Amino acid sequence: MTASANFAPESVSGGGPSSSGTLEETQVRAMFDRIAGLYDRMNTVMTAGLHHRWRRRAADLAQCKPGGRALDVATGTGDLALEMAGRVAPGGTVIGADFSERMLALARAKPSPFAVGRPGAGVTLRFETANALSLPYADDEFDAATVGFGARNFSDLEQGLREMARVVRPGGRVVVLEITNPQRPLLSTFFELWFDRVVPALGRLAGDAQAYSYLPSSVRRFPGPEALAGVMFRCGLTRIRYLITAGGIIALHVGEVGETAEAAEAGRAAEAGQAAGAAEAAEAGQAAEAAEAAEAGQAAEAGQAAEAAGPERGPS
Ligand SMILES: C[S@@+](CC[C@H](N)C(=O)[O-])C[C@H]1O[C@@H](n2cnc3c(N)ncnc32)[C@H](O)[C@@H]1O
Repeated sequence: MTASANFAPESVSGGGPSSSGTLEETQVRAMFDRIAGLYDRMNTVMTAGLHHRWRRRAADLAQCKPGGRALDVATGTGDLALEMAGRVAPGGTVIGADFSERMLALARAKPSPFAVGRPGAGVTLRFETANALSLPYADDEFDAATVGFGARNFSDLEQGLREMARVVRPGGRVVVLEITNPQRPLLSTFFELWFDRVVPALGRLAGDAQAYSYLPSSVRRFPGPEALAGVMFRCGLTRIRYLITAGGIIALHVGEVGETAEAAEAGRAAEAGQAAGAAEAAEAGQAAEAAEAAEAGQAAEAGQAAEAAGPERGPS
């Protein structure tokens, strides 16, 4: 069963379905403008509603705190941004960025229980037009950046991930939620059946005969979990971990933006200057440990529900 990501008509500008799973940027944008009205319904039908659960898990991995700032790249109709709003409430800011105006229009029309004006919430939630490959945000502006079912559509994956890492502060997180090819033989047979037969048939039923063959081909050409972890590492992220869930078809990757030498030095100086330095450091250590344990627990839970958690990747 899967996923949102591209319920994507292949041929946008008159050509036949591309079997490469790669489209020009203008084609990607046109494609999502074209299917925007169908997008949410198709997600729900094709995933039996599970896509919300996967976005919740992605939001958990971002580990934003109340009052924090999050960016959801390739936000589409905004579901992951709305999920993030709950993570930074009360206060806090979430920006959902995308280059498809029609997807953004639907995102803006969605009510959020956390928006400014709602009691106890007050999250600033904005949906802005932006290209993921050249984000109009300053370095270190966010505590976390997420992308759900969007990275597969980037015409330059590395550039997109580099941009996400750039706008996140040192120590903050970058989370990638994507469909992936299951590795176990039985599951991969089911996956092929689902993607190659059922998804295109659902696309035809939804009224677009050429739609939805881009989805399987784009998943096939996208890097597998270990390779994606490698790309994230090359983009300057550290402590990269991933987990696979939903029977092996969903991969959640998380990496941290490395501390710069100056930031690390400033952090050490601030810590040394605190009166209760030692006690606080110990407490912080415990908190960090607890957070790690909680996260490992979540990964284990996901692993039980599905397949496996990947190894941590870092400089070797
Ligand atoms: C499959 S949708 C995912 C939407 C949403 N994140 C979700 O979880 O359902 C992919 C989105 O990525 C956007 N997108 C693809 N490439 C992009 C780029 N270079 N810059 C901005 N948005 C992009 C598309 O416009 C589309 O809305």
